[in-house]
Amino acid sequence: MKYRKMGKLNISSSAFGLGCMRFNGAASGDSIIDEQKAISLIRKAIDGGVTYIDTAYVYLDKTSEIVLGKALRDGYREKVTIATKMPIHAVHDRASMEALLEEELKKLQTDHIDFYLMHGINRDGWEKFKAIGAPEFFDEMKKAGKIRYKCFSFHGPYEDFEYILKASDWDMVQIQYNFMDINNQAGTKGLELAGKMGIPVVIMEGLLGGRLANAPDNVQALYDAFPVRRSAVEWAFRWLCNHPEVSVVLSGCNEEQQIEDNLRIFDTVDSGIMPPEEIQLMDHVREAYLSRTKIGCTGCRYCMPCPNNVNIPGVFSIWNNASLYNQNPKHDWSFRNMVRDGNGADNCVGCGACEAACPQHLDIIESLKTAWQEINSFAE
Ligand SMILES: NC(=O)c1ccc[n+]([C@@H]2O[C@H](COP(=O)([O-])OP(=O)(O)OC[C@H]3O[C@@H](n4cnc5c(N)ncnc54)[C@H](OP(=O)(O)O)[C@@H]3O)[C@@H](O)[C@H]2O)c1
Repeated sequence: MKYRKMGKLNISSSAFGLGCMRFNGAASGDSIIDEQKAISLIRKAIDGGVTYIDTAYVYLDKTSEIVLGKALRDGYREKVTIATKMPIHAVHDRASMEALLEEELKKLQTDHIDFYLMHGINRDGWEKFKAIGAPEFFDEMKKAGKIRYKCFSFHGPYEDFEYILKASDWDMVQIQYNFMDINNQAGTKGLELAGKMGIPVVIMEGLLGGRLANAPDNVQALYDAFPVRRSAVEWAFRWLCNHPEVSVVLSGCNEEQQIEDNLRIFDTVDSGIMPPEEIQLMDHVREAYLSRTKIGCTGCRYCMPCPNNVNIPGVFSIWNNASLYNQNPKHDWSFRNMVRDGNGADNCVGCGACEAACPQHLDIIESLKTAWQEINSFAE
């Protein structure tokens, strides 16, 4: 296992951090954890050198922290740092923040949390946390020794990221990043900004939740043609760790074999080890994925709101992702939510208000029809 310095913090961490969000089929909506299996996976990772474990209050129907607490008995707690999170929807004032933190400490069976994060914020979430005094509460809890580091995890546009990053004295930040997301969310620009500010960066969705683990044929052909043979997973993690700003790469693992594989991979990776031809390979891989794009919707939302409640960029994103990553869109939670909320393309009446507003001049009405047909041709 390679260990990396965490930015301005005077500590190091294993490059591979275990994520506790996906045990036992949770990715496909099944939230029942096989507790013994999860505990054995967590301990296997720690025995293999992992020192960073990530969970959150809400993961797996609020059971992830409980299982992690059990896994960290018998001397395992002392071998790791724990990251967990406060969700904005569960708190509204100081008393509720205090109660939530106490509940998490109890579930985790520990007297302190190492990395405490405001969970999954964008600018709106940050404003809400500020309004209830969360930054001051985190500082106070640091002094009290109940948390060690004040952090946030982020999902939003780059502008929000820069704003939040500069708005407080953060100890760490967790972002979604992988070779496909260089211009999405915080992106490479956000990663480099955090690096310049000395703020350690922890990566989530390094495999896009597993989507980058199974390369479609045109991508696999590029990997196969490269003189050094590595799996798609290894290329994705290697690319991430090549960035010096990255401190920890989280990955959720459901199987022993995945833990073993990742332990092996994170023994070989380091910052700056990729020669130009490897970086070029990953650029070609990205292009090969993007060549599978169904429609050039940029998600600007100029077409919204649709008078008939169609989530136009949402439908196109599901359509594109299904094609890019060779996945069944019916297994995508955003498709299930769309059907549940009645925002599907079946509501389109062809009024054309969207087409008049689209800066890309997309043929939205016809594309919505095709997208919905193709999405619905997949099996449940
Ligand atoms: N704060 C937030 O807002 C937020 C959001 C997302 C994630 N997170 C955290 O970040 C952690 C990591 O994110 P993630 O789980 O999305 O990471 P990820 O690495 O992108 O995806 C994990 C999935 O990749 C597949 N995988 C992992 N190792 C593999 C291997 N060696 N070979 C083949 N497949 C492999 C597995 O998919 P299969 O299960 O399909 O086999 C696994 O479930 C989460 O566990 C969570 O703790 C936080």
